[in-house]
Amino acid sequence: MSWGIIGGTGLNQIPGLQLLAREVVSTPWGEPSAPLVRGCLEGREVVFLARHGEPHRIPPHRVNYRANLWAMQSAGVTRIVAVNAVGGIDAAMPPGHFCVPDDLIDYTWGRDMTYFADDLEAVTHIDFTQPYTSSVRKALLDALQAVNVAYSATGVYAATQGPRLETAAEVRRLRKDGCHIVGMTGMPEAALARELNLQYACLALVVNAAAGMDEAPISMAAIETVMAAGMDQVREILGWVVSA
Ligand code: HPA
Repeated sequence: MSWGIIGGTGLNQIPGLQLLAREVVSTPWGEPSAPLVRGCLEGREVVFLARHGEPHRIPPHRVNYRANLWAMQSAGVTRIVAVNAVGGIDAAMPPGHFCVPDDLIDYTWGRDMTYFADDLEAVTHIDFTQPYTSSVRKALLDALQAVNVAYSATGVYAATQGPRLETAAEVRRLRKDGCHIVGMTGMPEAALARELNLQYACLALVVNAAAGMDEAPISMAAIETVMAAGMDQVREILGWVVSA
């Protein structure tokens, strides 16, 4: 039962991760975003992958999600925490707030979103009623409680196409649809994890109020400040999760 961590924007590497090996992996689906980093966190071996590459260079719609998850599984990973920076739609989720979503809506398009497309023996439809694995969500919630940060234990993640941010009207629609947070990388990652039978959940850090939710325009400088502070907490939360 090896833990894998997929780091998003702001988490290209994990501070304090004791490096054991860097593994360049190739897969039938192409190259993953970066070499896998095998390391030791709180005395436990984990496999880390930078979703956007190291250095950060691959935009959300160009990430090879199929190769990334395939590589993690071939490295022996069975359960994954995906870290995602998001915009907050719900007023109760301001910048700096964490959310462990329990559901999602996929608004992305044109991405390679399944392993079950070609050369099939049978057409396969995975059950995706609950897109996140409850045991991994529980591990995250226990860690959030221990670290004592503000968080929401449920929420609906809207996965948008990017790389641009949303319009105010788009965010109003997401809110009407029942979404609480919005990001660009939650899908197809979660569905591909399910197709591979990987246990998977998302730790979302709100880094800005979603478009139109705040009078001030979205500022990259403000996002970076929130992200820098939040990532120290992410590191602590991950430490709790893998050592529990
Ligand atoms: N929208 C989409 N993705 C994001 C946002 C946002 O406001 N903030 C961080 N990732």
